[in-house]
Amino acid sequence: MDVLRAASAIGPLPCIPTTATRNKTQFPKSIFHNLNLKLPALTRNGLKSRLFMTLSSTPSSTMESIEPPMPELEADGREKERFDWYSQWYPVMPVCDLDKRVPHGKKVLGLDLVVWWDKNENEWKVFDDTCPHRLAPLSEGRIDQWGRLQCVYHGWCFNGNGDCKIIPQAPLDGPPVHTFKKACVAVYPSVVQHDIVWVWPNADPQYKDIKKEKKPPYIPELDDPSFSRPMGNRDLPFGYEFLIENLMDFAHLPYAHYGIMPAPTSKVKVDREGGRPLDMKVKKLDINGFVEQEWGNSNFIAPCIFHAFSDVEVDEENQRVMFIFMCVPVSPGNSRLIWIFPRNFGVWIDQIVPRWMFHIGVNLVLDSDLYLLHVEEPKIMEIGATNWQKACFLPTKSDATVVGFRRWFNKYAGGEIDWKGKYSGALPPSPPREQLMDRYWSHVVNCKSCNSAYEGLKALEVMLQIMSVVLIGIIAVTKQKIMSMVAKTTMVSMAIICFAASKWLAHFIYKNFHYHGYNHAFR
Ligand code: FES
Ligand SMILES: [Fe+2]
Repeated sequence: MDVLRAASAIGPLPCIPTTATRNKTQFPKSIFHNLNLKLPALTRNGLKSRLFMTLSSTPSSTMESIEPPMPELEADGREKERFDWYSQWYPVMPVCDLDKRVPHGKKVLGLDLVVWWDKNENEWKVFDDTCPHRLAPLSEGRIDQWGRLQCVYHGWCFNGNGDCKIIPQAPLDGPPVHTFKKACVAVYPSVVQHDIVWVWPNADPQYKDIKKEKKPPYIPELDDPSFSRPMGNRDLPFGYEFLIENLMDFAHLPYAHYGIMPAPTSKVKVDREGGRPLDMKVKKLDINGFVEQEWGNSNFIAPCIFHAFSDVEVDEENQRVMFIFMCVPVSPGNSRLIWIFPRNFGVWIDQIVPRWMFHIGVNLVLDSDLYLLHVEEPKIMEIGATNWQKACFLPTKSDATVVGFRRWFNKYAGGEIDWKGKYSGALPPSPPREQLMDRYWSHVVNCKSCNSAYEGLKALEVMLQIMSVVLIGIIAVTKQKIMSMVAKTTMVSMAIICFAASKWLAHFIYKNFHYHGYNHAFR
């Protein structure tokens, strides 16, 4: 039972149970049920405004009332407060997906970063991914035998403080040019919290010790040993705002993910998929995010985190599953998702079942949204993010969290991410669908579990092919009289099975690690 429930929790389908007591034969009710859940203790610092967002009630049925019921925002006199994108912590990557032996290039907030393991200080370090010599990417470099980050273009080496320790081309009896300030690399403050490397996107020395004053958002369940913390990451070809509003949008689940998530079980069904009114209300909205408590238990912690949870009583035991989404702005038209689905039941499953098996399901869910969001994005960008509410028709409360996010985005961030003038605002060109929805470069190479599964399955595919060829070869070179008819038939059958298995495996690898070709019409 635990397996089934945990699989539905961490697999392709976020399924949030209610707090109602139920026996072990019952599945948690889906997220589409009204929820009566407790809000987790959140410990993000900051002021709480008295802003309340409400969506108006059912729209009028008369044709005269064509104005969509827009959310109203109670003024609190702090409208001019501006969100500073460069005074926040950003999740870079889960530690479990980082290899200590190599430097990793990652883009966050338009900044090219290199993440590497400093074995001398036993810490992950985040540097500007630019060598001060001729600006080659340090992420293409290596860690030398003394644990320094080496630029492989001309061999300059840097310690964990960004100091240049050697310029091989400088004469030993000449001036110590490696000690010059211009030979140093910019170091960004970083910290590991919740098994994730976080970066502070400002390398100014005044922020060197920022982690002592301000920490990344703290989620108690992620530090609780009774919870498992299955996680993963994927780069996505649409912007941060489209990613986060999609993850906040519960109403799309039965439609965009039809057939890959459990269908809602409401009594009155208006269609096959089972969508229904969702009575959502954003309770508090301020510069730090908002809370949605009426219908579900979700929370937006600006700028990156959206999470929801649900509790269920089983045999007087409180079981909780959480859905934590960390949405990272990468560059215009690109974002990165780090997901964590902690739960305090069926924890043993994660110790047995490898992560890649769950990632297949999560990637399928992401694929089923991907193209929709990729196409939606340029339309909204053309209209202008601040005109979002005028361009979209939002007559029901089911859009409350999405509207809440857009209100936050427009009000505090001016409807845009501050790229510090790095980009013109244009989106990158749209590649062919197969490239757009590619899983290999967007996930597999960045996921230790999927990467090893991919390598292992590829090796198995080759072995099966070799076996089928060898078996046929043996039959061909063995003289008729030596081998009985039965043995021959057996070997031919085995060769066919090996060949068919290799073909099936090739298809499996392609579909799950490269391109799935999701088609909603055939679901
Ligand atoms: S560019 Fe890095 S050492 Fe020359
Ligand atoms: Fe994976």
